[in-house]
Amino acid sequence: MWILKTMKTIAFISNKGGTGKTTLSVNMAATAHNLGYQTMIGDLDPQRSSVDWARGREADGPAVTPFKRGSLFPAQFAADRAGLDLLILDTPSASPEISLQAAKAADLSVLVSRPTVMDLRTMTDMVTTLKSLKLKSVILLNQAPSQRNGREPTLVKEAIDILIGFGLPVAPCCFRSRTAFQASISCGLSAAEQFPGSAAAREIEDVWAHLADQLALNPSLKTQSPKIERSERLQSIWYRPRMQVDPQALAG
Ligand SMILES: Nc1ncnc2c1ncn2[C@@H]1O[C@H](COP(=O)(O)OP(=O)(O)O)[C@@H](O)[C@H]1O
Ligand SMILES: [Mg+2]
Repeated sequence: MWILKTMKTIAFISNKGGTGKTTLSVNMAATAHNLGYQTMIGDLDPQRSSVDWARGREADGPAVTPFKRGSLFPAQFAADRAGLDLLILDTPSASPEISLQAAKAADLSVLVSRPTVMDLRTMTDMVTTLKSLKLKSVILLNQAPSQRNGREPTLVKEAIDILIGFGLPVAPCCFRSRTAFQASISCGLSAAEQFPGSAAAREIEDVWAHLADQLALNPSLKTQSPKIERSERLQSIWYRPRMQVDPQALAG
């Protein structure tokens, strides 16, 4: 990463399609925008899902710009010069070269994964690369099934064990599988904008707080209202044994 003036860059990456990179990008971008951060999504995915989301948006919102292949670094430089606070990179799936470029450009890379064996297996190469290059990163679970009577589903507990074993930080919050995330995308809104006070809105607030903290974003811009209720935290991260897993073993 080259030295930027003040702008922070965050990249949502994964080798697998459908993990939630676009969902995270647009929900975080809308949140940042509504908090007063000058925000842009750089859409590196030729499918342009973030661009489509912005087209469907009537409300004032973050800038969403298609970034052509090879234009990431000049576009990032220009965004910084234009005075942006936050650049969010939405990346294509199964494009390790672009994912790596985005991760190198970013202050923080977020590896997005669903709690399924298929998703976890596709992460191993990326985890190894991020670790070997010492790029600041965090793993974030998306589409996790909800807790039942306050208990984490086995699928999620097992996924967390494996993710912790990868040796990269795992976010203590997640997005659960919720229709609010699907419905809001088609209207160009975040789930919090369309369903204020919902469980999805609380999850967005928690994930935003964690990522903003990791990015050390200027806290003076934060004007969040006090929390009323917590989302379903991934408590198991804090008490489950720190089993070490060889990422390559999962790849087989
Ligand atoms: N937390 C979630 N709950 C329910 N549906 C989700 C969630 N996250 C993503 N989806 C849905 O899964 C699909 C893929 O998500 P998307 O963000 O486009 O993934 P990616 O950008 O990684 O390919 C979309 O239909 C999206 O609405
Ligand atoms: Mg996408």
